[in-house]
Amino acid sequence: MTIDRRSLLGLIGAGSVAAPAFAAPAHSPAVAFLHGVASGDPDAHSAVFWTRVTPADASGADIEVTLEVARDAGFSDKVLTASGLRARAARDFTVKHDLDGQGLEPGAEYFYRFIAGDVVSPLGQVRTLPEGVTPDVVLGVVSCQLYPGGLFNAYDALSKEPRLDAVVHLGDYIYEYGAAPDDYGLSTGAALSRIPQPPHEILTLEDYRLRHAQYKSDPDLQAAHARAAFICVWDDHEVANDAWSMGAENHSEATEGDYAARKAIALRAYYEWMPIREPRAGLGLDAINRSFEFGDLATLAMVETRLTARNKQLDYATDMPMVDGVPDLVAFNATLNAPDRDLLGDTQRNWLKGVLAASKSAHKPWQVLGNQVVMARVMGPDVTKIASEAQIEGMIGGLPEAVQGGLRQMIQLYKLGVPFGLDSWDGYPAGRERLYAAFKEAGVQPIVLAGDSHAYWVNDLKDADGERRAVEFGTSAISSPSPGDAVAPLPLGPLLSANNDEVVFCDQTAKGYVLLTLTPERAEAKLQTVSTILAKPYVASTLSTWVVTRDADGVTGPTRV
Ligand SMILES: [Fe+2]
Repeated sequence: MTIDRRSLLGLIGAGSVAAPAFAAPAHSPAVAFLHGVASGDPDAHSAVFWTRVTPADASGADIEVTLEVARDAGFSDKVLTASGLRARAARDFTVKHDLDGQGLEPGAEYFYRFIAGDVVSPLGQVRTLPEGVTPDVVLGVVSCQLYPGGLFNAYDALSKEPRLDAVVHLGDYIYEYGAAPDDYGLSTGAALSRIPQPPHEILTLEDYRLRHAQYKSDPDLQAAHARAAFICVWDDHEVANDAWSMGAENHSEATEGDYAARKAIALRAYYEWMPIREPRAGLGLDAINRSFEFGDLATLAMVETRLTARNKQLDYATDMPMVDGVPDLVAFNATLNAPDRDLLGDTQRNWLKGVLAASKSAHKPWQVLGNQVVMARVMGPDVTKIASEAQIEGMIGGLPEAVQGGLRQMIQLYKLGVPFGLDSWDGYPAGRERLYAAFKEAGVQPIVLAGDSHAYWVNDLKDADGERRAVEFGTSAISSPSPGDAVAPLPLGPLLSANNDEVVFCDQTAKGYVLLTLTPERAEAKLQTVSTILAKPYVASTLSTWVVTRDADGVTGPTRV
């Protein structure tokens, strides 16, 4: 077994930064910080601080915890000590402390740690948001970290970025699947000994807690959390695949019970285990749309597109009417374009419009939208235009049998000119037009961030009249399988960009994250990838770099540099 430095640090409980270790007396069992530390939802004067204390025994008694925040890693310049915090069984012994808008200076780097008895947690770093004149901001953008899908090498790479103000997590922080041989990613998971815990689909509160705990046991993920504050939204898998407001593809009321109850359980575990601010008074657990101000430079608005307002996804298998064995595209498109199809709902869209308009009124050059699913108009590729039937059959014949049938059907469907996917904004065209109208009314052309797709995207977003409304950067997965891998040797990414005006660039195989650097005139997105998720060591590199510039007339680009 090869153990690199990071793994070793993880095994001994240190994060990315060496922390003082206090050995507990041999005669008494000690609590432990086995899941790292995290910070989240920073503002100019505060952040949320998180850890989890593993109890020394099964008594279930509260554990007293102290949070220390300092200007230096040696804690000689302490700015804050919050004592008397309690890790309680009722919250699975997680601790969350919200400084709630006070205590820290704007645009400053801090170090923090938790202490329980004689035991000191790993060390974390957090940067508060800037106020006033802000020359630049650097954000990591991540999503989709299937634990059995591979090693979290991308998080190790992210934790080593020399400048990182915060990490925007667009969801699929956990996946709900079990550990059966045909469960998602298990062929890789078995080879890497990354078997989901518990080894079945998660349904109960204990299940969801255990799954979160397993993910947070990963040393690379711990290193990323220790490096910078996370600003998170969930996507579907934090509850169940293809979640919508009243159900999910991977939820059966008949065999798995009430969806609302499962959703409440999933969100309870999420709030326990994630460094996200607790729900605001009077709002439901699922109202996690919120905004962040980066001085005079940028506004980041995080939206919720799964649980509050999303209609049920359409499905080609059930929603494509057939007439004499021929798909009725006109009828399908009528259903797809129904005016009530939506992801955000009026309440959230109006809130968003207000946030964007206020940012514009404050003359901030950049408005950034943290959004789960790809927004661009992406039609499925017609591969029959680039390959003969014999060539296509030759390619399909080389693929695993499990994907052959579905692929043949999709090739026929995509010849008709239908969206690549129906779970993204393409499944909700009326809602997307309403969002674009909100952008227009607010007078902004935002940078839209997207996760969910396990692929990189650089997209130029236009409304139904062909007017530019936004630019989109989609980040690939940390470790979840990419669609391009399943259909290799079909060059899926290049096919999608060649077939779609809005898709400037698409890569459907690389894994990693996006590093977004904003300055007053320029937004730069580096697509940062890792050479492998199957082994260590790995090599980090930049797949490509894209720039958007702006002046008084609006945005120009994205241009590859
Ligand atoms: Fe995902």
